[in-house]
Amino acid sequence: MDLSSLQHRRILLGVSGGIAAYKACELTRRLRQAGAEVRVTLTANAARFVTPLTFQALSGHPVRAELWDETAEMGMGHLELARWAQRIVIAPASADVVAKLAHGFADDLLTTLCLASDAPLAIAPAMNHRMWRHAATQANIETLRARGAAILGPDDGALAEGESGPGRLMEPEDLALALAQLENAARTGGKLAGLHVVVDAGPTYEDIDPVRFLGNRSSGRMGFAVAQAALDAGARVTLVAGPVHLPAPQGAERIDVRSAREMRDAVLAAVADADIFIAAAAVADWRAETASAHKLKKGRGPETLALAQNPDILAEVAALDRKPFVVGFAAETEDLERNAREKLARKKLDLVAANEVGADRGIDTQDNALHLYWNGGEQALARAPKRELAGRLIERIAALHASQRGNR
Ligand code: CTP
Repeated sequence: MDLSSLQHRRILLGVSGGIAAYKACELTRRLRQAGAEVRVTLTANAARFVTPLTFQALSGHPVRAELWDETAEMGMGHLELARWAQRIVIAPASADVVAKLAHGFADDLLTTLCLASDAPLAIAPAMNHRMWRHAATQANIETLRARGAAILGPDDGALAEGESGPGRLMEPEDLALALAQLENAARTGGKLAGLHVVVDAGPTYEDIDPVRFLGNRSSGRMGFAVAQAALDAGARVTLVAGPVHLPAPQGAERIDVRSAREMRDAVLAAVADADIFIAAAAVADWRAETASAHKLKKGRGPETLALAQNPDILAEVAALDRKPFVVGFAAETEDLERNAREKLARKKLDLVAANEVGADRGIDTQDNALHLYWNGGEQALARAPKRELAGRLIERIAALHASQRGNR
């Protein structure tokens, strides 16, 4: 779990009332472990669930709960605290705090700090599921989101009162990760903030019978790294994954598929509202014409396997009326530029990321080198770990997508 972007960040953690307040203790610990400086403020109701002393011990700083506290004002005054914060996180955020923030109230320390600070706000709601679903709460959340607040969660699951539904505070480790991603996005300028990116990744397996299939050696690492880089740049990401053994990047919506035809259906559904589609999958071009429901016997099996062509997912997406910005990969063993440019034109792509594949290059390896081609330009990305390379690829995609949008 990469939390390095939290290092040295000055985070003001606001804890409001609710049983989930105890999870804020663990969050404090994790943020500090990641190298962040954390100062905590509690609402009066939160202080009934967890004592300020607990947070003082965990954060290493005195904890304030009152707006009018003469002793505290002699230390770091509340306006100073508001200026100190580089990010304000409210976890858990009760329905009441969400409502107050949406309407600009400043009748206690936490809401006053939020109003007096320029720091970006991240809100992790936790409440009863009916309160969460209530039109008033939803409208307040939308108001805050429109103002630029990041809304983290809530999770769906068992709630304190023995009920179940959306309203659980996200787990502290997931919150810490989401906050790290926000820092990453802020650092890269959130270049893809507000955009929906669909990535396909990994191989596809085409069944011949219940135990045999046609497949390839793709590990899915490049596609997963691209999905992570898109998340880091602030995008909402859907990752359509063939059969691979990789954990999905936190925050991506993962859809698992097996065959090319399943991948095609999942991708076409996902790109309906997508801004960018990145085809990193090594889709099998062919499948067995008929897949046998029973295991084929050696003695009686066909000597030739009849093949049928699979749909070209990338070309189908690029041919859509309302097409996203489309990025294809090209694995070539020779004539990189000519083949890549030919693919760019033939499949009507916006960008091709080409790599030379050979004995130890490209497929099923840890690092890779890419050459990017688009109409009117090219860029070489030197050999680097796939994660780093993916970040640079996403930067180029963001720039081209933005200029294309500007030209429309
Ligand atoms: N691709 C796809 N669906 C397929 C085959 C390929 O979406 N059925 C996508 C891949 O994800 C990749 C790009 O097309 O982004 C390039 O695939 P590649 O197999 O290298 O090229 P082809 O267009 O199939 O051409 P050729 O095999 O002749 O090089």
